[in-house]
Amino acid sequence: MAAPDTHDEVPWWREAVVYQVYVRSFADADGDGIGDIPGIRSRLAHLHALGVDAVWLTPFYPSPQADGGYDVADYRDVDPLFGSLDDFDGLVTDAHGLGLRVVVDIVPNHTSSAHEWFVAALASAPGSRERARYLFRNGCGEGGDEPPNDWQSRFGGPAWTRVDDAAATPGQWYLHLFDDAQPDLDWTNDEVKAEFESVLRFWLDRGVDGFRIDVAHGLAKDPAMPDLGEAAGHRPVDTAGHPHWDRDEVHDVYRSWRSVIDEYPGAPAFVGEAWVPNPERLARYVRADELHTSFNFHFLEAKWDASSMRAAIDESLGALVDVGAPATWVLSNHDVTRHVTRYGGGDVGTRRARAAALLMLALPGSAYVFQGEELGLPEVTALPDHARQDPTFRRTNGADVGRDGCRVPIPWSGDAPSYGFGPGAASWLPQPDEWAALAVAAQERDEGSMLHLYRDAIALRRALPALGDGAMSWLDTEPGVLAFTRDPGFACVVNFNGAPAAIPTALSGGDVLVASTPFDGGLLPADTAVWLP
Ligand code: GLC
Repeated sequence: MAAPDTHDEVPWWREAVVYQVYVRSFADADGDGIGDIPGIRSRLAHLHALGVDAVWLTPFYPSPQADGGYDVADYRDVDPLFGSLDDFDGLVTDAHGLGLRVVVDIVPNHTSSAHEWFVAALASAPGSRERARYLFRNGCGEGGDEPPNDWQSRFGGPAWTRVDDAAATPGQWYLHLFDDAQPDLDWTNDEVKAEFESVLRFWLDRGVDGFRIDVAHGLAKDPAMPDLGEAAGHRPVDTAGHPHWDRDEVHDVYRSWRSVIDEYPGAPAFVGEAWVPNPERLARYVRADELHTSFNFHFLEAKWDASSMRAAIDESLGALVDVGAPATWVLSNHDVTRHVTRYGGGDVGTRRARAAALLMLALPGSAYVFQGEELGLPEVTALPDHARQDPTFRRTNGADVGRDGCRVPIPWSGDAPSYGFGPGAASWLPQPDEWAALAVAAQERDEGSMLHLYRDAIALRRALPALGDGAMSWLDTEPGVLAFTRDPGFACVVNFNGAPAAIPTALSGGDVLVASTPFDGGLLPADTAVWLP
């Protein structure tokens, strides 16, 4: 049973625990080896028992699946691979019946090359209204044979692909910051702006509680399209004025979107995916008339050590003070190496991941749990090349193995693949043999499992008025230890050292609410977090 909620008066998005479902890999109802919406419906009880407030679904829209569905061909439907609009409506109804909010992904930076707009653009002449929705340009050099500039795709290779125009015209090029199957839209185009506001309304009218905005920092491009030269890296750089990441013009888009979402009851909210160089730039996305929240990748990128973590926490919270927005905390998602592995892998990585979960869930703001993190799944590093599907793998000729290792379908029960993922043995990415012990059913039987730790901590977070939205204060500690209090009556201590360490004397001797490794007073074991009253 869910514990009583002491947080009813706070807007949900200021402190929600949001569970990320990577739709292809959560649960497969029809047995084709690929997760689907009926599968998610059949497993909502797991999310209810976990105690999360909301579920974020990665894209389930009609798509050629060139980038796991982040190549959307139709923004107003469900891909038959994943079910139907009726299935989606049923999922929303079931989720709401369990008190779970539903957040969907919106992908505004690019469409699929199979989207009717892009198909029409290819069939139309340079300079046409159809081409003006995308970023078509003439090439450089003799015959326009060279790309318009030196921008690179985030997935490797040039960010421009040439099209086969009529013989009389030199073929134009189109921009794609990601795969060539993901042409970038021109966000100065009024039709593009109107279309996405209409798409927001389509899903809000169906009852969704929010949107995760894909590549929120990428929509605006410098109209002069200058070469990047030396700065041709993929990530936003610390200097202002990057020609396509984190440009000031994107904020106009979010101001309009905010006015749309604010028309709807029930406080639907946005969370932006903005990879920006520092928390100050991130805070600009969550100004009062823009997005409600934005993912805080600064925390995700921090190393497992007390000073890196403390700096990430302080800088993140500090940058938000002026704008009044809540922080978000993320340890893993479908684009990064799972944190059990990032923190060292094996027993050490698992132990640190347990401590990190208690740290994350104690911090002020909202928190994101990526499917399988509550099971302590590691990154799958041994996938055979033929199974890999991330376009990064292909576009870099295997130099970058890509993101499939965190997207392997999750184990539910049993001791043979697909471990209850679907009715058959197949899953679109193969699961490792060791995953029987990590399956939900196995962990339910084990009081000491990662699953029980997440359930206990999330239930406490709901029950304790000190947790969720609000403030925190640091306490003085030994080196390698972080300790903070939250009012009323809560403290969290994390020992990042590889050896036991003392907890601040003001906190010693009391009860333990929950600990990431067995602890009943005295020295706090290595790589351990504890919550104290
Ligand atoms: C975001 C998504 C990622 C996708 C990319 C392009 O970063 O999280 O999975 O590949 O956008 O849409």
